[in-house]
Amino acid sequence: MVQMTLSDDLEQVAREIRSCTRCPLHRERTKGVPGEGDPEARIMLIGEAPGDREDREGRPFVGRAGTLLDTLLENVGLSREEVYVTNVVKCRPPDNRDPRNKEADTCRAYLTRQINLIKPKIIGTLGNHATKAVIGRSGISELHGREFVMEGYTVIPLYHPAAGLYNPNLVDDMKKDMEALVSHK
Ligand code: URA
Repeated sequence: MVQMTLSDDLEQVAREIRSCTRCPLHRERTKGVPGEGDPEARIMLIGEAPGDREDREGRPFVGRAGTLLDTLLENVGLSREEVYVTNVVKCRPPDNRDPRNKEADTCRAYLTRQINLIKPKIIGTLGNHATKAVIGRSGISELHGREFVMEGYTVIPLYHPAAGLYNPNLVDDMKKDMEALVSHK
């Protein structure tokens, strides 16, 4: 019998995402963006949806927001390879509009499979949309840095890195939230 490893299982999910036609977003995508990082990561970060650059490269957070995300991780002694980064919605919404509830609902099965394979100790949701999709609550300025439990997983909402690009005053809070996330036992 062929043994499937964790990486094989995650790669299987990734293949399904790349060829997915379950919602209309597949028509305009260039590449589906499954996510990447350490399959055994302690920390899983979940963004909203791929943007233009992510859509072209098939990789999450490779644009300017991703550069800030890398800086926030470096600040707590982590590299991108040591965490797992994905999005709620795996294909880019046209013109970077917000993902629709139906799209997030349709894509949820992929995210659930990824979470249950990686079994992270802690999940950071990046921004309001990801937070709403994962813990069902909105209002990131109230929720950021706090701990929630969702189906046995600890979740800490974080500001979306793009928010720090528009409003550099948020960056101090973003650093503190990232510290709270990594120091969670
Ligand atoms: N914003 C997101 O939410 N996800 C990405 O992958 C890139 C930008």
